[in-house]
Amino acid sequence: MELRPPLRPDLVGLEPYGAPQLRVPVVLNVNENPYPPSPAVVADIAAAVAAAARGANRYPERDFPELRQALADYLAVESGADVPAAEIWAGNGSNEVMLHLLQAFGGPGRAVLSWAPTYSMYPEYARDTLTRWVARPRREDFTIDITAAARDIREVRPAVVLLASPNNPTGTALTPDEVAHLATAARGAGPEGADALVVVDEAYAEFRRVRDSSALGLRQDHPNLVVSRTMSKAFGMAGLRLGYMAADTRVVDAVRVVRLPYHLSAITQAAALAALRHRDSLMNQVASLREERDRLHEWFGQHGFTAVLSDANFILFGVLPDRRAVWQGLLDRGVLVREVGPEGYLRVTVGTPEETTQFRSALLEVTGG
Ligand SMILES: Cc1ncc(COP(=O)(O)O)c(C=O)c1O
Repeated sequence: MELRPPLRPDLVGLEPYGAPQLRVPVVLNVNENPYPPSPAVVADIAAAVAAAARGANRYPERDFPELRQALADYLAVESGADVPAAEIWAGNGSNEVMLHLLQAFGGPGRAVLSWAPTYSMYPEYARDTLTRWVARPRREDFTIDITAAARDIREVRPAVVLLASPNNPTGTALTPDEVAHLATAARGAGPEGADALVVVDEAYAEFRRVRDSSALGLRQDHPNLVVSRTMSKAFGMAGLRLGYMAADTRVVDAVRVVRLPYHLSAITQAAALAALRHRDSLMNQVASLREERDRLHEWFGQHGFTAVLSDANFILFGVLPDRRAVWQGLLDRGVLVREVGPEGYLRVTVGTPEETTQFRSALLEVTGG
């Protein structure tokens, strides 16, 4: 039977976001942690979920204070940041947290500003909240010209500035000085002279090369800074869907207005709390993933590829005359990477040493290297 649903005109013809989810032996396309949780972690999560299920006739804790405290404790250990639980907010992945921010601070007549190439979901948060998306270019080497960026902020007058650091798909990170400079430029530069929010998306922060480079340490001097984090990457819990942010309580209060009631299920809260109790074991592999990344970066250089220096768990590499053909050739050999970023480049996630070895030999075969 014919149906013409009244789709918003700006959504006509659009495809849902998403990298292909293909069942192949070596999956290196969505920047996951390749190491599954240990049996002890799995057992603890299962027990916590069972306990939560016993009370599942009730709605969950709406503002999840216990989980916010556990996330604050984690940040204290991971970054030395002293963040009160009241300044933490969480959602089903950091994607949801950032959408909450745009729901509260974006909207018609307002802009969100970033520097491309960057995370491909950002324009979608903008579109879904009817916020104008403004992307200014990065330099040739994918770093941001901070002086020009400060000028962009004053010119665009965005409600929200999105800065992925380390950036996806390039892996490039900002220094605390650069972030501080932009946070200062954003003061009074938002709509009607408001302080624009500078959201530093630190989804990959745990893989950074310089320990003291998280933007969390800048928040005391820059209350318009918001730092977004996730359990999906270094923490090895992409399947859990738990992302969070550290932000001024006035920002947290604003997102509490727009979130759906009880958005974080009792099952998610219980599983996240259990996983956080095992943070040491879950984070065990981060150092070896960093080493594996640096070895892979060196390997690219030795074999004539251009690889962008990465602070994350992936590397953008090229320059390939026909990146689609290389992507397909790798897939034919059981290795899935991501066709993303500027023309001529592909992005590969750092896997286990065995997976990386398979990737390297497949790439040499495909490119005749
Ligand atoms: C830069 C960046 N931010 C945020 C996310 C979203 O992560 P999640 O919603 O799983 O927390 C990703 C995922 O790939 C990412 O690359």
